[in-house]
Amino acid sequence: MENFYTYNRPTLYQKQSDAFFNADRYSWIEGSTKSGKTVSCMAWLFEQALFLGKEGREFWWVAPVSGQAEIAFNRMKRGIPKGIIRGIISSQGAQTITLINGAVLRFKSGEKPDNLYGEDVWAAVLDEASRMRAEAFYAVRSTLTATRGPVRIIGNVKGRKNWFFLGCRKAEGGEPGHSYHKITALDAVAAGVFPQEELDDARRALPDAVFRELYLCEPSDDGGNPFGLQFIRQNIAQLSNKAPAVFGDDLAKSVDWTVLHGLDEDGVTCSHTRFQLPWENTIDHIKLICGSTYTLLDSTGVGDPIVERLQKTGSNFEGFKFSAPSKQMLMEGLAVAIQRGEVQYPDGVIVSELESFEYEYTRTGVRYSAPEGSHDDCVMALALAVHAKNTRPAQPQVIAL
Ligand SMILES: Nc1ncnc2c1ncn2[C@@H]1O[C@H](COP(=O)(O)OP(=O)(O)OP(=O)(O)O)[C@@H](O)[C@H]1O
Ligand SMILES: [Mg+2]
Repeated sequence: MENFYTYNRPTLYQKQSDAFFNADRYSWIEGSTKSGKTVSCMAWLFEQALFLGKEGREFWWVAPVSGQAEIAFNRMKRGIPKGIIRGIISSQGAQTITLINGAVLRFKSGEKPDNLYGEDVWAAVLDEASRMRAEAFYAVRSTLTATRGPVRIIGNVKGRKNWFFLGCRKAEGGEPGHSYHKITALDAVAAGVFPQEELDDARRALPDAVFRELYLCEPSDDGGNPFGLQFIRQNIAQLSNKAPAVFGDDLAKSVDWTVLHGLDEDGVTCSHTRFQLPWENTIDHIKLICGSTYTLLDSTGVGDPIVERLQKTGSNFEGFKFSAPSKQMLMEGLAVAIQRGEVQYPDGVIVSELESFEYEYTRTGVRYSAPEGSHDDCVMALALAVHAKNTRPAQPQVIAL
């Protein structure tokens, strides 16, 4: 006796179904964050496995890192009706869901593209493609050659210098067999999937270039630089001769530098010192250079006892603890100051650190950091100085009677 199962495709809004459920072999989709990219890909891959599936046929989900592949695996496990599943393997590095028709849904990371060669694959999804190496795409494409299998390539917009961006432009230009689709947060708001308040909040909180990439799918020219390359250069100025109004101090951790950054009353850099010394000498240097000026210091980890020692010598020293949200707030404050021209600095190491800074969108928010192997201590000290200037206690007024 035959068994019958009912499967209902989740209700997708028009732009979602057009982008994923079309007849093109290659569909390239630039999508805003939270626009429903992953949900649509899951429905699409599952249906491919259901309708094209036969004993042992492979259907792949590829994400940039194994953690993301695992999230999709868990979401799929929850979403597929139990009666359609024959078996599940959950071991690290080999996560599969086998359907009753023998189709194998396999969840993989694109970290080691060599591991993506070899099999014949009948349909594939590359989720978060703009964060994946081009080699992962080449590998997956090779697995689809023998089967002529379709693929959905999907991601956030992230600069202009990556294979995903270029592939989207080719598809948009009418490459045969390829189609291009764009789903912005405005589409998701219109479809009732994303709240308008969230969008308004993101627009206010994020640097403009970041907001445009993440929510409106508009690439920045800056390759993911949160400050804007043009703005960074507009604020280059000679060191000021005026007295410092505030200092921002980033303390060296294991391999980097201690940086003391002084801004004058107008936000112009008037003092900039970068050194690597034992803690005792570091404390002496800070006392000497920052004197009695209001100073905000990184008090995370090993910084904490240093700040405490300095606080015993003067009430002008204040600690700032870095956490993911506090660092995000600090960097967004710096981005605003740079874009409004409220801070100036000399050309050189500060400018090159600002220029190579990157942002990355994660599940918990936007993460700002220097690329692997680069320093960020000048940026941190500058950001602390800007924050110090914006938040320092009111100056006592000296009134002549
Ligand atoms: N058509 C839809 N109807 C109702 N809810 C939806 C629809 N599409 C997506 N959602 C919901 O919106 C949320 C975000 O969806 P999803 O995770 O697929 O988005 P995403 O674009 O992949 O996001 P991220 O930027 O985190 O990768 C989920 O809670 C999902 O259930
Ligand atoms: Mg997603």
